[in-house]
Amino acid sequence: MGTPKVKTIGVLTSGGDAPAMNAATRAVVRIGLERGLRVKGIKKGYNGLLNEEIVDLSPRDTADSISHGGTILFTARCDEFKTPEGQKQGAEICKKHGIDGLVVIGGDGSFQGAKRLSENGINTIAVPGTIDLDIPCTEYTIGFDTAVNTAMEAIDKIRDTSTSHERCSIVEVMGRNAGYIALWCGMATGAEDILIPESYDGNMPKVEQQIIEHLLRNRALGKTHHMIVNAEGVGHSYSMAKRIESATGIETRATILGHMQRGGSPTAKDRVYASIMGAYAVDLLCEGKTNRIVRYKNGEFSDVDIMEGLAVEKKIDDYQLQIAHLLGK
Ligand code: ADP
Ligand code: F6P
Repeated sequence: MGTPKVKTIGVLTSGGDAPAMNAATRAVVRIGLERGLRVKGIKKGYNGLLNEEIVDLSPRDTADSISHGGTILFTARCDEFKTPEGQKQGAEICKKHGIDGLVVIGGDGSFQGAKRLSENGINTIAVPGTIDLDIPCTEYTIGFDTAVNTAMEAIDKIRDTSTSHERCSIVEVMGRNAGYIALWCGMATGAEDILIPESYDGNMPKVEQQIIEHLLRNRALGKTHHMIVNAEGVGHSYSMAKRIESATGIETRATILGHMQRGGSPTAKDRVYASIMGAYAVDLLCEGKTNRIVRYKNGEFSDVDIMEGLAVEKKIDDYQLQIAHLLGK
């Protein structure tokens, strides 16, 4: 590796936190220092950048972080950074602190900000950190694996009590616009029904009618439980439970798992992939690259232009969805 094209790099986490963001931050710090760079942590995402919450980082600052959820750099949302003035100011603050390269760990919103910083003269690399798995160009995002495992364990537990009482259960998992968590949890727990925003046309009475028919069919066949995994983007879990119960006479309960899915100790996969992505981002900066997303595709880590990476349409795999439905029939 030749002389790095940057001298001082910054790292920030932005948008919704995700388990193993710390592993990525740790890798940026340690590999950055290993490559002879100075590394600065920017706290609270773009908010902290605009407020100049910037600190020097040493390897010790990331000690004991790889096994913890959340983000040691904190995270935030920042509307001011959506404006050209905010973005220009952010780039100026980077320059003032000598930051000539930046790693942004976050979701697609954060990537838009990364693109703007790149346009304003700061070499910026985006690392996908979101439990939603909704970044089009990559088959892996930091935190998805942990979130799915957390939700799966919760659903298994709910299933135990639901089966004992011969109830129907609706478990709502995160995913405002994306159904990956629901699809994976649904398949992993053998759910009878999986509802995802990608295939929801807004016709709730039709969805409920299909579930009611499915539930009654299964009861007639002797099934004593019925698990519905519902994505946040479809929602309405409590009212759905009430209507299913009154239409079938079968006791139906809804549970919304909520933010527990974003916390907890990351899985080995998340720790390792996040570490590699963090390191990869530093090496792209050392090569003088900017405006790139680090991605995992076809079994390899690689990088792609930010807008090109976000432009691809991310679709739920029809085959996987179909299999999940058949398995829970
Ligand atoms: P995520 O990164 O998880 O998708 P958000 O969509 O909330 O989360 O975005 C996080 C932050 O990224 C926003 O609060 C804002 O500061 C920045 N951001 C989002 N969209 C843009 C945009 N179009 N231009 C510049 N910055 C943006
Ligand atoms: O982290 C992704 C996500 O969990 C989405 O599924 C959800 O809609 C959103 O974040 C909620 O974030 P917050 O509660 O922090 O606004």
